[in-house]
Amino acid sequence: MSTPSPLSSIPSLSSPSTPSSLSSVVTRLRAAGCVFAEEEAELLRSAASSAADSAAALDALVERRVSGVPLEHVVGWAEFAGLRVAVGPGVFVPRRRTEFLVERAVAAARPGAVVLDLCCGSGAVGAAVAAALGTVELHAADVEPAAVHYARRNLGPAARVYEGDLYAPLPAHLKGRVDVLVANAPYVPTGEIPLLPPEARDHEPLVTLDGGADGLDVQRRVAAEAVRWLAPGGLLLMETSERQAVRSMALFAASGLVPRLAVCDERNATVVTGTRPGRGRVRSSPGSLPNGRPVDDPVRIRSRHP
Ligand SMILES: C[S@@+](CC[C@H](N)C(=O)[O-])C[C@H]1O[C@@H](n2cnc3c(N)ncnc32)[C@H](O)[C@@H]1O
Repeated sequence: MSTPSPLSSIPSLSSPSTPSSLSSVVTRLRAAGCVFAEEEAELLRSAASSAADSAAALDALVERRVSGVPLEHVVGWAEFAGLRVAVGPGVFVPRRRTEFLVERAVAAARPGAVVLDLCCGSGAVGAAVAAALGTVELHAADVEPAAVHYARRNLGPAARVYEGDLYAPLPAHLKGRVDVLVANAPYVPTGEIPLLPPEARDHEPLVTLDGGADGLDVQRRVAAEAVRWLAPGGLLLMETSERQAVRSMALFAASGLVPRLAVCDERNATVVTGTRPGRGRVRSSPGSLPNGRPVDDPVRIRSRHP
């Protein structure tokens, strides 16, 4: 597929605002604890601007935001890897740190690759990989109907989006053909869910966050079956936390994959990659930097993003 059509680059907010109303919005947002109140006010104003009664629409959006609904759910989109990804209630909001997972996948894949975005949520990761590579055969899957709805919307008709538990809904013809399998599966240990910010805890479904007692339940299942779906030389890439990375790597190794680790300090992002042994179509060794230089584990990468 080429760049998914329903997604667009992030536009600049150029339409005029009403200073007095906007400053009262900023005040309300700030009182509710929004740190980036000015930026949020502009985004809310922009989201309300197409309504017939834009003042009433803005008021309603601000009301939802100050009640604690994530900004992205209020405006209906999230910025991710330069794309505008549609999101809404019931769907995980893609995090900026996950752009590192995209970068690692893009560094490994070639145009034309068969890409599988497992636990796809809104489809943000698959969409960004497809946009960067130009042409891929993209498949995505999630267990949540709301996620599947948004992934279909974001990825467009050229991608195949399946609903079900991990690999269960995938067509058999994908077995042994996947060049790049990306998975940002839930990895928060159950006991740490209460410590998450309220926006996540109260507004993102538990299934999007909860990784079980040690946080690795879903990762364990993804890794265990990956070898059956990967092409020879194919790559599994999973986001994890730095604290869990050694255990994630052990899961990969136990599943017959050759594990590597990459860490982006600036984005606090950790990605474990695992290669299915064999000659394949991926670009370079999984631990190599984007410039092709091979590195030892762990790979520490300075982010190119602020
Ligand atoms: C942390 S969110 C990541 C979503 C998306 N990949 C992203 O980065 O924005 C994890 C996703 O895994 C999905 N998920 C959890 N358990 C699953 C399972 N057993 N099978 C398929 N998807 C699952 C959730 O519905 C959720 O959309």
